[in-house]
Amino acid sequence: MTGATQIAVVSAGLSDPSSTRLLADRILQAVTKDLAGRGTETSSRVFELRDFAHDITNSVLTGFAPKPLAEMNDFVAGADAVVVVSPIFSTSYSGLFKSWVDALDRDALAGMPVLLAATAGTPRHSLAIDYAMRPLFTYLHAEPVSTGVFASSDDWGESADRVAPLQQRIDRAARELADRMTEAERAVPADPFSPESYLGENGSFADLLANPPVR
Ligand SMILES: Cc1cc2nc3c(=O)[nH]c(=O)nc-3n(C[C@H](O)[C@H](O)[C@H](O)COP(=O)(O)O)c2cc1C
Repeated sequence: MTGATQIAVVSAGLSDPSSTRLLADRILQAVTKDLAGRGTETSSRVFELRDFAHDITNSVLTGFAPKPLAEMNDFVAGADAVVVVSPIFSTSYSGLFKSWVDALDRDALAGMPVLLAATAGTPRHSLAIDYAMRPLFTYLHAEPVSTGVFASSDDWGESADRVAPLQQRIDRAARELADRMTEAERAVPADPFSPESYLGENGSFADLLANPPVR
C-alpha cells in the first residue's frame, strides 16, 4: 500500500475491445495528469465488470459477494475517487452496471467524489448520464461532479470542427474531479456501533453511567 491518492475505475463495457474501457482509460489518464500537475501522486486500478459478471449475479442472488468481487468493492469503497463508465443499453445504464451497484454496500460510496461517464451508439441518448446515472449516485449519497462524459460512436473520429470535442469534455470532468479530491478530506459516515458514537470522543463508560443519555 502506498500513500498515493487512490482512484478506482469501473468499466461496464461488454465488448472486447470495448469503447467503454477505452473511454475509462482516457478519463483515468486525464485525471492522473491533472493531479500530477498539482503535485498529487496517484495509484489506480481499472475493473471491467464483465470479469465479475458471474460473481455479481451470485452476489445479488445470495447476498454474499465472492472474494474477487468483495476485493474489488473494498478497493472502490476505500478509494479517494471513483470513475464509473457504463454503455447505454435501451436508453439507460446497462443491467450489469446496475447489478454491480446493487451488490455494493449501501454506504460504500457515501461522500465519494465520482465522475460519471457513458458510451452509446447514438448522440440522441446523451442525457442518459443525467436522467439515469446521476439520480442513482445521488441515491447512494455519492458526490458526482457536474460534468458527465458521454461518448457516442461519432465522438471517436477526429473531427476538427466539432463544438465540444470529446477530449475537452474529458479534461473538464477530470479537472472537476481533481478539484473535488484536493479540496477536502472525504467525510466517511460514522460507524453507529463504534464506542465514540455513544460515548463521545473523550468519554468513558464511567461518564456514561454517571450521565446516562436522556431519550
Ligand atoms: C443491448 C444493447 C442495447 C443498446 N441500446 C442503446 C441505446 O439505447 N442507445 C444507444 O445510443 N446505444 C445503444 N447501444 C449501443 C451501445 O451503447 C454502444 O455500442 C456501446 O458503446 C457499447 O460499449 P462497449 O463497446 O464497451 O461494449 C446498445 C447496445 C446493445 C448491445
